[in-house]
Amino acid sequence: MKSKSGSPLFQLFVAFLLLLSRNADARTHYHKQKKKFGPDEGGQSISQSPASPPSEPNPTVPSDPVYGGPDDSIFDVREYGAVGDGSADDTAAFAEAWKAACAADSAVLLVPSDYVFVIRSTIFSGPCRPEFVVQVDGVLMPPDGPDCWPETDSKHQWLVFYRLDGLTLRGGGTIEGNGEQWWNLPCKPHRLIRFFMSSNLTLRDLRIQNSPQFHVKFDGCDGVLIEKISVSSPALSPNTDGIHVENTRNVGIYDTVIGNGDDCISIGPGCASVDIENVVCGPSHGISIGSLGVHNTHACVSNITVRNSVIRGSDNGLRIKTWQGGTGSVTGIRFENVYMENVRNCIIIDQVQEPTSAVYVADVSYANVKGTYDVRSPPIHFACSDTVACTNITMSEVELLPFEGELVDDPFCWNAYGTQPLSPSLPSIACRKARRSPSLRASAMDVSEHFGPIILINVIVIIQRVRDCLIYHMHYHMVVSRSLLRRA
Ligand SMILES: *[C@@H]1O[C@H](CO)[C@@H](O)[C@H](O)[C@H]1NC(C)=O
Ligand SMILES: *[C@@H]1O[C@H](CO)[C@@H](O)[C@H](O)[C@H]1NC(C)=O
Ligand SMILES: *[C@@H]1O[C@H](CO)[C@@H](O)[C@H](O)[C@H]1NC(C)=O
Repeated sequence: MKSKSGSPLFQLFVAFLLLLSRNADARTHYHKQKKKFGPDEGGQSISQSPASPPSEPNPTVPSDPVYGGPDDSIFDVREYGAVGDGSADDTAAFAEAWKAACAADSAVLLVPSDYVFVIRSTIFSGPCRPEFVVQVDGVLMPPDGPDCWPETDSKHQWLVFYRLDGLTLRGGGTIEGNGEQWWNLPCKPHRLIRFFMSSNLTLRDLRIQNSPQFHVKFDGCDGVLIEKISVSSPALSPNTDGIHVENTRNVGIYDTVIGNGDDCISIGPGCASVDIENVVCGPSHGISIGSLGVHNTHACVSNITVRNSVIRGSDNGLRIKTWQGGTGSVTGIRFENVYMENVRNCIIIDQVQEPTSAVYVADVSYANVKGTYDVRSPPIHFACSDTVACTNITMSEVELLPFEGELVDDPFCWNAYGTQPLSPSLPSIACRKARRSPSLRASAMDVSEHFGPIILINVIVIIQRVRDCLIYHMHYHMVVSRSLLRRA
């Protein structure tokens, strides 16, 4: 019962992890095309030391590029004076290289391997010419810790990519955040890499680690492809979310391994069509939709899919979190084939229980979610708002067992509803009522008439004491397949 290492899904992911291990041979090799550049070519401005997100866009669009070529043009930062010895400040060289590369068609801004480049907080802004690639083969890092951080630099963010369409950031190298000295500070405002107001972005192959705070953040973007990256920070590094997206649509996150001290992937307000597949999280705080509706804001999230992924050693598994007082909705959320190992709160919807408005959660499905949970928390926890019930929650093939210790057969459910059974002939088992105070029960009854009881199919976690399973009020039914009953 302790380990599911024999399960086929788990084996699949071991194989997948092996595949993911970095393959240096797969690096693209470029023939070098040395070019000469005048100081003013391109006319791309790079603003440094932004005090806040770039609020005043001042980049001038590069006019007719002088050095566009049909093939890749390599712009090696060393050609612009970058030293790469791990201590020299290479910010100016990167700015010059960016200017030049941004103005050329199919340019590759190369950060070569075997060098360690230190740059200060910088906004790399566009628009740039099409098919722009930033290839990081070496190591790129900020000054080490707050003491070395120049007073004039933004302490909120380090690398910002702004107003770019079609940028690819890739390479076999490492983006090192040097976050250690920031983690102990009372406020940790510093994001490592931020993509802002950009479209059609690709982030591929890189290793990104030890961010002072969020590792990679996308906001105001449309069209993001993240593939084969790894993100790592210690489990106890605070607020080091792996990938955070907000106000961003059409996102794919694939074949990626994340271990950190906060959310593995967090999906904030204004996101739609986010597809997550073959992601391994852990240690982490799991994959999170939210928090939404903070400070009475309006937040909408829709069409999110998480498939064929693994979450292990994490504080949450699949979480939806909203704040009281917010408005908006979370709809069309699909979790499918997710393997958990020693995870607290494997499945959790967390809405603060106050009689105020709330973000509406609907159409959430959990299919084939299996593995083990940390018994310190119930593996399933649906705490929906008193005023706005969660509706159309469906579960099938959810099998969660204790990683170690006693079964927690008390899933918590409050004001959460599912759909009518597809097959009315299956036996249904009425469950006892929850132990919450009756005064809080009022509002849900009417909602249930419209939406019907939640249906849990094959929820092995509660099979052991089937009649104890609770979901709130009345018509709660649980349908248990015969095969699972036999196993239990
Ligand atoms: C993204 O790329 C597609 C196809 O190349 C293009 O049609 C679209 O306009 C781009 N999106 C933006 C916002 O520029
Ligand atoms: C949902 O998201 C997927 C990608 O994750 C996209 O292909 C699909 O078109 C989206 N559907 C809707 C209705 O937006
Ligand atoms: C329930 O949610 C599923 C997605 O999980 C959706 O396909 C279906 O249309 C929803 N049903 C209702 C009655 O809204």
